[in-house]
Amino acid sequence: MLKKIVKKLIGIDAAPDVSSAPKSGYEEGRLELPKIEMLSDDELDRLNSILPWCAFLVDRKGRRFGNWYTDSKRSEPQAVPDHRIVELNKRIPLSDCHVMEIGCYEGIHTAALAQLAKQVTAVDGRIENVAKTLVRIGLMGLSADCYCWDVEQALPPALPQEWDVLHHMGVLYHLSSPIAHLQELLPRTRKAVLLDTHVAPEAGPFLSSLSDGFSYEYCDFKESSRENPFAGLTDHAQWVRVGDLQRLFAGLGFDRFEVAEQRDERNGPRVCVYAIRSDCPQ
Ligand SMILES: C[S@@+](CC[C@H](N)C(=O)[O-])C[C@H]1O[C@@H](n2cnc3c(N)ncnc32)[C@H](O)[C@@H]1O
Repeated sequence: MLKKIVKKLIGIDAAPDVSSAPKSGYEEGRLELPKIEMLSDDELDRLNSILPWCAFLVDRKGRRFGNWYTDSKRSEPQAVPDHRIVELNKRIPLSDCHVMEIGCYEGIHTAALAQLAKQVTAVDGRIENVAKTLVRIGLMGLSADCYCWDVEQALPPALPQEWDVLHHMGVLYHLSSPIAHLQELLPRTRKAVLLDTHVAPEAGPFLSSLSDGFSYEYCDFKESSRENPFAGLTDHAQWVRVGDLQRLFAGLGFDRFEVAEQRDERNGPRVCVYAIRSDCPQ
């Protein structure tokens, strides 16, 4: 109940507690991280303190690289690769693809994409998230081009203007104009999209809007602040209906629209979609 009230008042994510996760002793989720494993416990401690980490990996010695957000959010070691990226790679082999990752956060999905894809561009609207991504992937021996970009603003000329695959996880429901955003990015996407997002609850209440001739319905949600590393960069967001998303994608040439997961999460309904252009070779 308290969480619901906080959510109404300040947006979908409550303020974090400042406690740290245990430093070591993790049995699950160990990864081969040679550049982390060569650090002494003291150096790793310093690395974990110099940036505001809010998610973590575990090395082969069972030590934490990063931190949790709270003891109930990003409180477990993260998987690399995430199963949704494994599924994406089965549908669209990434080895000859340039992937554009929206909302790279702390580079955990960026790392998986960099292991699999020919080229990765990763963007986030928070410079500290871009910095954490660069440090994370650098210490994993991987590389990606990372930029600070608020994706609700025009695409800066310094960024690539087209890519093969759009990786879009956990960001759409933080945007104030998600349809206009997709209308900007989908025509630049040559092959496929992995979209994982909350969608409007069936019960509404719904408002309606029009973006470049496309009419759609949405539920309005309050977003939390710039300080929240997960949140959007505006004070409210539109959660759109999955049917409207499918119609939008089809209109922009993505005829294959596979809703691979439908999840009822703490904050509301969520889907994982693989959308593929009809002219994309299998
Ligand atoms: C909920 S987190 C998801 C992180 C990651 N993609 C994942 O799935 O674990 C949302 C991320 O999107 C970023 N973000 C939110 N709104 C943005 C915007 N308008 N422009 C760029 N990044 C944004 C946040 O800074 C944060 O890193």
